[in-house]
This record gives sequence, C-alpha cells and structure tokens, in this order.
Amino acid sequence: MSSQKPHATVAKPLAATRSGALKGTVRVPGDKSISHRALMFGALATGVTRVRGLLEAEDVINTAKAVSALGAPAQKRGDVWEIRGRGVGGLVQPEGDLDFGNSGTGSRLMTGVIAGHDIEVRMIGDASLSRRPMRRVLDPLKKMGLSVAEDRETLPLTLHGTSSLVPIEYMTPVPSAQVKSAILLAGLAAAGETTVIEKEPTRDHTERMLRYFGAKVQTGLRDGRASITVFGDAELEGRDVAVPGDPSSAAFLAAAAVIVPGSEVTIEGVLVNETRTGFYTTLAEMGADVALLNRREEGGEPIADIRVRHGGGKGGKLKGVRVPSGRAPSMIDEYPILSVVAAFAEGETRMEGLAELKVKESDRLAATAAGLTANGIAAKVDGDTLIVTGSKQPRGGGTVVTHMDHRIAMAFLVLGLASDRPVTVDDMTFVATSFPAFKGLMETLGATFNPA
Ligand code: S3P
Repeated sequence: MSSQKPHATVAKPLAATRSGALKGTVRVPGDKSISHRALMFGALATGVTRVRGLLEAEDVINTAKAVSALGAPAQKRGDVWEIRGRGVGGLVQPEGDLDFGNSGTGSRLMTGVIAGHDIEVRMIGDASLSRRPMRRVLDPLKKMGLSVAEDRETLPLTLHGTSSLVPIEYMTPVPSAQVKSAILLAGLAAAGETTVIEKEPTRDHTERMLRYFGAKVQTGLRDGRASITVFGDAELEGRDVAVPGDPSSAAFLAAAAVIVPGSEVTIEGVLVNETRTGFYTTLAEMGADVALLNRREEGGEPIADIRVRHGGGKGGKLKGVRVPSGRAPSMIDEYPILSVVAAFAEGETRMEGLAELKVKESDRLAATAAGLTANGIAAKVDGDTLIVTGSKQPRGGGTVVTHMDHRIAMAFLVLGLASDRPVTVDDMTFVATSFPAFKGLMETLGATFNPA
C-alpha cells in the first residue's frame, strides 16, 4: 500500500499566550526512534512482533505502511500493533511508491532494509524530506551493493537492492544514528561482519534492539572510537516490544514547566537512555529544578519519571551555560527548545557543534535564530554555534516561520506560554508528524493557545 495523499496541506497558524502555572502528572507518546525500529525489525523477523505504546504519529504510520507494502503487514489489534515478519531477505517488491512523508528516520533506515532485498523500490517524501541529504546513507550502502537509479542524492529515489550484499567496515563522516542504523540493517543481510565506527557515539537503540531480536551484535572501542559490528546472514525472531515515552517530546513539557512561573509537571515513563538525555543534563547545569525519579528498566531500555519545577528551584535563577559540541548527538533534536529556555536564563548560552541542525526537517539553526529574533530575543549564529542571550522577561509578539518542522512549531509555542506577548507559529500541522497530542496535553497542564 502506498499513500497517494498529496503532501500540500492548508497551513494552520496557532498562537500561544502567557499561561498560569502548569501542573500535572502526564505521559508522553512513545519514542519515535524506537517505534520506527520496532516496525522495521518486526518486518525483518520471523513470526509476530507485538508492540505496545507505538507512537501513532504520521512519521511512524508511514513506516507501518511501508513495511506492510513490503509484505510484512503491520496492524493494530486492541492497543497492540502486530507485525507479521518475513525474515531477513524475505521482503517483497511493493506495488507502488513508498511514501515517507516528513520522516528522515523512516526513509534512511528503510534504505538499509531495502539494500538486502532483490527488489526495486521508489521512495518519495514531502517537500522538506525531498531536500534532505540521502548521500550519507547511499554512499556506504552502494559500497555494499545497493543500486540507485540516476545516481540521485535526494528523494524521490529509486533503489534496487540485492540478495548478495557485501559486508563493509565504515567510519561515519557525520554523527548520525540514522546512518549507523542503515548500515547495520543492511549488514544483517550481508555475508560476513559489517562494522560501523563512530567518531562520536549516537543513540544506540538499533544495537540494543537488534540484540533483543536475536542478532549477534558486538560493540567496543577501536582507537578510542565506538565500533559496532553486526554479523550477517542474521535471523531475527519476532518479539514483544514496549515503547517508552519519548524524551524529545517530553522536552517541550519540561521546558514549559521550567519557564512558566509556579509550574510543577511530572512526565511518567520516559526513556532516559544516556544517548538521549543531553537536554536534561543541560537543564540541570542551567540550575533548573529537574529530577529523574523512579529509575527502572523496561524492554531493555532505562526509563524514569521526570519531574520539573519552575525556574532554578528554591528561588534560584536559571543561568546561561556553554553546551559542548560533544553533547550534541545526545540532544540533537532538543536545540530549538533549549534555545527557548536559554531566552529566560541570565547571561549567554553557547550551543556549539550544531552543523547537523542545518539538515534536519528544516535548517533548524537558522529557523531557531530567526524565531528568537522575531520575538525580541538576542540570538546569533557564529559558524556552527548558536548564542542566545537571555532576559528576565522575553518579549514575544512575533510570528515564527516553521518551515514544515514540527520541533520549530512546538518550541516556539512553548515560548509563547511565558513570554510577555503571545507567540504565533505560521503552521502547526507538522506537529502531527511526531506529537499529535501536543496541544491537548499542554492544555491539560494549563497552557493556553488561541487560533491565530
Ligand atoms: C534519529 C536520529 C537523529 C534524530 C532523529 C531520529 C534516529 O538523526 O535527529 O530525529 O531515530 O536514529 P541523525 O541520526 O541523522 O542525527
């Protein structure tokens, strides 16, 4: 099944206005990274995979449609998603195009899945995804045996995989879990050992979950760098997966609680894998009152309840900090919302090493700086560094261009909850790609929004 839905939608502007204290205990939807992987690994396994807590947002639904079209039906029964897998190498040629909508993760990981199958697949996406670089995954996969029609580097892409992939050893030129994962997924079908070496470690859900599904994966250090090896001709077995709450979605609620006076919010059951928690570490360094409570493990991943109170706790103030580039992979999706928190901190927050932000759903470095500036907040981009100078009471009052980017929309709506004047985002529709319940959930905590 391929979605023929046109990508163009009618823009829905929304304004966020200064709100009273945010209060409550809530859950956020399932982690996006783990949800995509559960569907794909389930498709590559034999037998049935049952997923609880799958993120039901557009990006992940597009992956569910894609695996279904490849012959591994993914369907919801009650509150569990079931995927009937086909085994590594067992996927079949889809009848139409595979439409990944707005999703870099869905499209890039799937490139690795397709590589190990002797099928031809045309991948398409929306205008944002069609601008994003695919060469980072195509280069290594071509070395393994994938063919790419017309040597294109962006979607739409026509790929032809092979059942005789060659294993490789590859040092990723950019810190990207998507690139690492695409190679490891292809490696499952290759004859021999495929190794990825990372200069900077990135989120490790693929490694963890592949092991859980029965693949042989070795991780270690090579010359001080993370090295991950997957053994080919792998056989995966269908599993039960429980998806924890998404720390990248929880970040918007946590940030709102930090900046809206009087707030106390607890977000239960959030993934706290340390390859994902850089934002919370940074909040604590800024003096925010953030606590990871009731730490436990679920489905091979650490989770916790995150409690956040307004400001610097005990009457303290938030202060600007330097966020080193080495932390970027563990909070790569959180810079827009961290920048909003920085607008309320005393002094300067310097966020370094943000080159990868330029190739997200939008150029997030430029979009974040522009959004802050439009709201009277001092922001400067210096190479790959973003510098935000905070104030006691940011002005707001601006309209933010979201560039089809869900996280830009949510970050600036959070700004409007505590800035002097309302903040308007030009289009809120793309929030549905990762967090359709965002507005409703924020309203249950006490946030106020008005149609613009
Ligand atoms: C993701 C990896 C990150 C992140 C994206 C999800 C993943 O991208 O921005 O939202 O699930 O592997 P990169 O790996 O390209 O940095």
